[in-house]
Amino acid sequence: PDTTTISADGQVSIAGKTLSELADSYGTPLYIFDRATLINACVAYKQAFATYYKASTVRFLYASKAYLSPHLARLLSGQGFGLDVVSGGEMLVAQRADFPLEHISFHGNNKSEAELELALKLGIGRIIVDNWSELERLIRIARKSQSRPSVLLRVAPDIDTDTHKYLQTGHASAKFGFPLQSGEAKAAILRILQDGQLQLVGLHAHSGTLLRETRPYEECLERLLGLAGELYQEKGWWPEEISPGGGWGINTVEARQMPEVALLAQALQRKVEALYPQLPAPMPSLVLEPGRSIIARAGVALYRIGASKDTPGGIHYLFVDGGMADNIRPALYGSQYTAIAPEHIYEVADQTYCISGRYCESGDMLIEQVKLPVLREGDLVCLPTSGAYCLPMASNYNLVPRPAVILIDDEQICVMERRETYEDILKRYPI
Ligand code: LLP
Repeated sequence: PDTTTISADGQVSIAGKTLSELADSYGTPLYIFDRATLINACVAYKQAFATYYKASTVRFLYASKAYLSPHLARLLSGQGFGLDVVSGGEMLVAQRADFPLEHISFHGNNKSEAELELALKLGIGRIIVDNWSELERLIRIARKSQSRPSVLLRVAPDIDTDTHKYLQTGHASAKFGFPLQSGEAKAAILRILQDGQLQLVGLHAHSGTLLRETRPYEECLERLLGLAGELYQEKGWWPEEISPGGGWGINTVEARQMPEVALLAQALQRKVEALYPQLPAPMPSLVLEPGRSIIARAGVALYRIGASKDTPGGIHYLFVDGGMADNIRPALYGSQYTAIAPEHIYEVADQTYCISGRYCESGDMLIEQVKLPVLREGDLVCLPTSGAYCLPMASNYNLVPRPAVILIDDEQICVMERRETYEDILKRYPI
């Protein structure tokens, strides 16, 4: 995080609190989020796009799936960000934070009838229609409740991305959205316009996540505006807003590196300038949905070593008190993290360790190889850049309670999620 400091006697602090004192007060595993880093990331987006194409506007929706809590929702609302949610659960957390629900977009490829009804009841700002079943379901529900929700059509733009297979979402056979090439996206728009129950305000596509190049965004804009151009010609319909989704990557190993949002802003600016002269109507508003690039660097995971083992094959395991149930990303995507030993920061990092968790599975590995000073039972290990997609994918594997989560700044510490208890777990099981 941006507020990290190391004192002369080797104490590592975030927002003025040492990691040792936080571990002692809140226990481990502990996820710590730094308010200043979060705000800086929001400001970086706003600044990068401040000079974006004058004839249009830009709105930012934070992708809640990267991590959400009521405290975080309030912080983001204070920064002028909306939210992208994908479930009734995420909607209700936003509502709990008194988040302005009209600034929320509801995504997902299998929204239930109950979730769509909840979205209409709460007055969620936009529903992103993903497929034919959902389109008909939403038309039916809207007609029944005599409402006319604002929707965007999710398009599968057939764009390849250079990212992990599980993180690609815009290719032709992706599970999300109406395929562009087959003409289905256009057919769905015609259906919405002809029916009239839904108000079609724009087009959406999301090509993938952990992207390091701007090409997918540029291609996406071009394709969505191309489709809009056809619709304008044939039906006189033109989008008010257009969204190439989120997905801007960050580096989880070189944690100090800021995400270069300026690169994305410049590329989109250039693309819009090139496309604008050919557009039949004003440039629609641009809506971006960053998740990881807002939250990843703000969060760190803090674990305590409970045991260690040296194998005959020369692997030096450090077993920490968390692992794959609070961070499945290394096991699922081969994601790489780095680690620091906050109580031994000035010691020479000449040992190669494998940081493994406490779960009953050999795949429970956080870092396969990392150089650290000599560490023992009782020492702390901290994984920076753990703010995105760790906690939201956490499980109760082995029925271990989930970690506590705090948000800190110079003045206060808020518990964003209290540590789960055995009682929380046991009450799920009727006897
Ligand atoms: N918008 C849409 C429609 C999305 O599907 C996503 C991510 C985002 C925005 C935000 O993308 P971001 O800026 O956070 O990259 N569990 C995976 C990530 C899956 C993300 C899926 N959709 C991981 O741990 O890397």
